[in-house]
Amino acid sequence: MSDSITKKLSLFKKPLKVLFVAAEVHPYATIGGLGMVVFSLSRALKKLGVDVRIFMPKYALIDEKKYRLEIISEGLRVPTDETAEEKKFLICNVKRYLPTDPDVPVYFLENMEYYEKRSNVYGYSDDPIRFTLLSRGVLEFLRQSDWVPDIINCADWHTGALPNYLKTIYNQDPILTKIKTVFSIHNLSHQGVFDHRFVSELDFDDGKSLIAPFFSEKLSKQNFMRRGVIYSDIVNTVSETYSREILTKEYGERLDDLLKEVRTKVFGILNGLDYRELNPATDKLIPFNFSISNLKRRIKNKIHLQKEFNLEISLDIPILGMVGRLSGQKGIDLLFPILETLISEFNIQFVAVGAGEAKYRTFFEEIAKKFPKKVGCHLMFDFVLARRVFTGCDLFLIPSKFEPCGITQMEAMRYGAIPVVRKTGGLADTVEDFDPKKNSGNGFVFEDFNAYAFFGAIVRALETYKHKKIWQELMKRAMKADFSWEVSAKKYFELYKKALVFVFKK
Ligand code: GLC
Repeated sequence: MSDSITKKLSLFKKPLKVLFVAAEVHPYATIGGLGMVVFSLSRALKKLGVDVRIFMPKYALIDEKKYRLEIISEGLRVPTDETAEEKKFLICNVKRYLPTDPDVPVYFLENMEYYEKRSNVYGYSDDPIRFTLLSRGVLEFLRQSDWVPDIINCADWHTGALPNYLKTIYNQDPILTKIKTVFSIHNLSHQGVFDHRFVSELDFDDGKSLIAPFFSEKLSKQNFMRRGVIYSDIVNTVSETYSREILTKEYGERLDDLLKEVRTKVFGILNGLDYRELNPATDKLIPFNFSISNLKRRIKNKIHLQKEFNLEISLDIPILGMVGRLSGQKGIDLLFPILETLISEFNIQFVAVGAGEAKYRTFFEEIAKKFPKKVGCHLMFDFVLARRVFTGCDLFLIPSKFEPCGITQMEAMRYGAIPVVRKTGGLADTVEDFDPKKNSGNGFVFEDFNAYAFFGAIVRALETYKHKKIWQELMKRAMKADFSWEVSAKKYFELYKKALVFVFKK
């Protein structure tokens, strides 16, 4: 690092102040990977001495009593329309949760109509209003707050309006202009409530106009992902490979040209795992605890899983597991032509846990009906059962079409299941292909998104599984891989410092 930069950094004597803004955060509103990341990354940054806080909507499902919420801003007026002669507002409150260690303080934006009356986090036609309200609500709150962050770390399209407001409407505000923004992309394919692949030329949003008034029809057609990318100081994705992939047509979701233009501000940092919670030696959610030095005990979990899904009890039959959202992203289509062949030609069992699209549910249900002693499925989200699949299965399948990071492959490895993955995004960054000559690697990797390539990788894994000693070594390497948040949190810390020091080309 050059001397001038080191000098500039030494100016930051006080702890760095970071505010995370997100639509979902575990455990207050637990939906998917994004919420888990904000939860564990914020804790890990706190451990590094960062003054970190979270801002999110106060949905109906958040229990006010449990978190002893205190009101810290009453009647916050959030403007809804720049163009109107007479300013209009939505009225909100901000409530705060001050937790004990290791959690971080959380601000909740309260609004009866848009959050309190809704039982779900996502899925409403007025989601653009709900999340634009969040973005602008944060800024209005900070204008009158005695705590102002150095960095706001936004996440995905729901918060794309925030950097946009900051750089336009609030660009003269003496307090807010000092704040730098980091825009984290967890999934580029969602850019708003519309499907960006089918947006007409007339409705196309280049991101350059002012954000439309809350109640105009135009708001729902705005591309908040694009706006987040344009107006933030730094963009990051949740793995290094994905940060390079999104610069291409294949993965860029029609934002590749823009991302290429601003590539000097695009970075990638791999997500981590909460190693305290995910520890096979102490985890209370799994039937039998075990560790690298006591792998034999893991076998009991396999039998437990076979019983749970009513499969034939046998230690020799490899179990192939799949856990997660049933969506096109996850590459389940690649199983359609091969799963029956795998079941009838090879002596295997298969279990699937997850919720999602009907065509995948039907596929799994029909195959379970056909092979009741060999296939089990639970087609709903169930994170306890998911954990039991990680602990009981032998091969864990993730043939994703694209995967910004992917968490389940890391969870599976931590619990001794060997991943079979497509070489994309975070999967490419976490799983190293097994090499029988060198006896190296911690999983099985294939490249092309097609069923033959996937089939080949599964068969390689099944053949390797027959060599017990080699398989055990493979399991040990997988379990030893270090995906702890400490490593990634340090990289985020560096990224924040970059945002404060460098001025990037817009
Ligand atoms: C999204 C991505 C997934 C990633 C998660 C958390 O759900 O699809 O790959 O692991 O966000 O960053």
